[in-house]
Amino acid sequence: MKKIIIPLLALTLSGNTFAQQKDYGQKADSIIALMTLDEKIGQLNMLTGNWEATGPVLQDVNKSEMLKKGLVGSMLNVKGSKNTRQLQELALQARLHIPLLFGQDVIHGYRTVFPIPLAQAASFDRSAVKDAAAVAARESAAAGIHWLFSPMLDVARDPRWGRVMEGPGEDPYMASEIARAMVEGYQSAGPDGLKMMACAKHFAAYSGAIGGRDYNTVDVSMQTLHNLYLPPFKAAAEAGVASYMCSFNEINGVPSSANKYLYDLLYKDWNFKGLVVSDWGSIGEMVVHGYSKDRKMAAEQALNAGVTIDMESYCYIDHLKALVAEGKVTEETLNAAVRRVLIQKYELGLFDDPFRYCDPKREKASLLTDENRATAREVAGKSIIMLKNEAGLLPLRKAPASIAVIGPLADSKRDMDGNWVILSHDAIAVTVLEALKEEYPKSRIEYVKGCDVNSTDKSGFQAAIEAARKAELVVLALGETWDMSGEAKSRGDIHLPGVQEELAQAVYQANPRSLTLLMAGRPMIFNAIKEQAPAVLYCWWLGTEAGHAVTDVLTGRRNPSARVPMSFPSHLGQIPVYYNHKNSGRPPVDQAGNYSGRYIDIDYKPAYPFGYGLSYTTFAYDNIQVSTASDGLHVSMTLRNTGDYDGNELVQVYLQKLWGESTRPVKELKAYEQVFLKKGESRQVELTIPYKELAYYGQNGWQKGDGDYKVYVGRSAAEVVDMKEISIVNF
Ligand code: BGC
Repeated sequence: MKKIIIPLLALTLSGNTFAQQKDYGQKADSIIALMTLDEKIGQLNMLTGNWEATGPVLQDVNKSEMLKKGLVGSMLNVKGSKNTRQLQELALQARLHIPLLFGQDVIHGYRTVFPIPLAQAASFDRSAVKDAAAVAARESAAAGIHWLFSPMLDVARDPRWGRVMEGPGEDPYMASEIARAMVEGYQSAGPDGLKMMACAKHFAAYSGAIGGRDYNTVDVSMQTLHNLYLPPFKAAAEAGVASYMCSFNEINGVPSSANKYLYDLLYKDWNFKGLVVSDWGSIGEMVVHGYSKDRKMAAEQALNAGVTIDMESYCYIDHLKALVAEGKVTEETLNAAVRRVLIQKYELGLFDDPFRYCDPKREKASLLTDENRATAREVAGKSIIMLKNEAGLLPLRKAPASIAVIGPLADSKRDMDGNWVILSHDAIAVTVLEALKEEYPKSRIEYVKGCDVNSTDKSGFQAAIEAARKAELVVLALGETWDMSGEAKSRGDIHLPGVQEELAQAVYQANPRSLTLLMAGRPMIFNAIKEQAPAVLYCWWLGTEAGHAVTDVLTGRRNPSARVPMSFPSHLGQIPVYYNHKNSGRPPVDQAGNYSGRYIDIDYKPAYPFGYGLSYTTFAYDNIQVSTASDGLHVSMTLRNTGDYDGNELVQVYLQKLWGESTRPVKELKAYEQVFLKKGESRQVELTIPYKELAYYGQNGWQKGDGDYKVYVGRSAAEVVDMKEISIVNF
């Protein structure tokens, strides 16, 4: 391919440096005035690269020819500075030389893999989440990518749904904090001046899929839509997110790909100026939903509702021209959509230099640097939840003479990365076995697999039991393989798969000094381990630095500080189980035999509630005060580290509105802060809840939220440290 000289027209039309972000709208209009109908529609057409598909491929088209004719405005699944350059060169051969946008599902890191987003949520640490996003953005930008299909902001209550791994967990307030942190992390320009577009997805309520089956129907009330699902999307708009992706599901009988209610909210109420991309093929799928008569009608409905770009359904490219000719889509609507796309291309500086993201030297120097790995190790360590630690098994005070490492996930690089990994063919993660060998070079370390993740074969048990008997310490690594959570990976049974729990029980019998590491993309059910294990760390899928993050915690270099971001059910029949439920008139009680909302055969409480997690140290809360001021509700306390280790305490404040215009949840998280205290140290801690956080959507629309409240300070949603009542009025 011969080198392309940056086309003159693009330069004259741009005539601006990247730093001067002046009036891109006018510039876009001047290009639109030159465009044919086909070229305009091309800007709204997004195709996948030939290398990879992340959904069903619908048409076998000659993409090179389409690019050269200006019939493609953006692409996904093209990565690497070389590949993106090649396609950009083709696109620039088109008459108006408009550069392409390259989008990619960078969900938890590009080359340096970070913990899955649900694990990052468990850190309850805004800056950790932001740092992870910033590294992902820098690496992606260096690899030729402009647009990240992240953050995924689907607040989820059903752990059977495989995509809980990509999301922020069950709480809308925390999800909003994560939305802000991720958008800032992704969209801040790096030292090289390269910016990224982030994409808040999936708009909206996708995680409400009935029965936890992916892509399933969602049946949601207006109150739940506004109070549970939409807050993080609004937070993303406030943080200046560049784009949204619509969800596959319907809301109130209308698929999101044409749900005007959603886009009016977005463009009018939230004043969003960026663009909306459909999900993969979702415009065409409106025919399957039974909403659109045919693909042509789907194109008409989607564009008129406000969906800017058609990802891989070919409905826009195939039908918009006729729809404009028939007057079913006005040229004004079409132009407005094209304008949104062109403005983003200006924002990224692509009209100044379409190849500014395509520098192979920078790419090589930017990926998997020591610094990026160090950040990944830090974030991974912050994502590990200590669920149990009996008899002080952890931290290990000295190197064990011998360690039996047991379990199918102890030495599996690919599984450490989890789902949605860009360079998955080249798994380089540090496993637990590798990290233990590095940490304890003088210890005798024996590895026995014991069983596979998902099989009934117990023939490996005996060897595992023997290894456990001989060892001073056992480290068991169990869980899900990387492909057991994620898109289209819903599970009807979320128990720890296969015979792993039986293996664990046999190992505990053989050696009570056993540490269990559970690795998965979702909360699982593991009641026998919960009861019988001496110590349990929930490690999710931690990414490139997984093994090191585990040894950091094991040795006490890091005191665990993560907490449960999504309630862990103790029985399948409880699902959905979540902390911020309503009270009802007859809330469940522990005693049997009365008319309460309990089950007669299983517990109604989760195995581990939202906000739960242990530390190597202990904390005392004193002098908790609640007061109102002009800027909001203030909650203050003296927090003291009363244990033997330095460590973090996650201070959590929940509110309950006692009565009013509509019923409200029994508890809602409204403030949290990770507070680090040295052993013996105490500190005055004050959290402020701005009054706007009290607003809720009730039977009569948005309400201010003034009234009578209980204010809880808790170690989790279930463990209350203190409760105060207060009337919050006149703000
Ligand atoms: C997923 C999106 C993703 C898109 C492109 C879809 O199947 O739902 O989250 O961004 O594919 O890969």
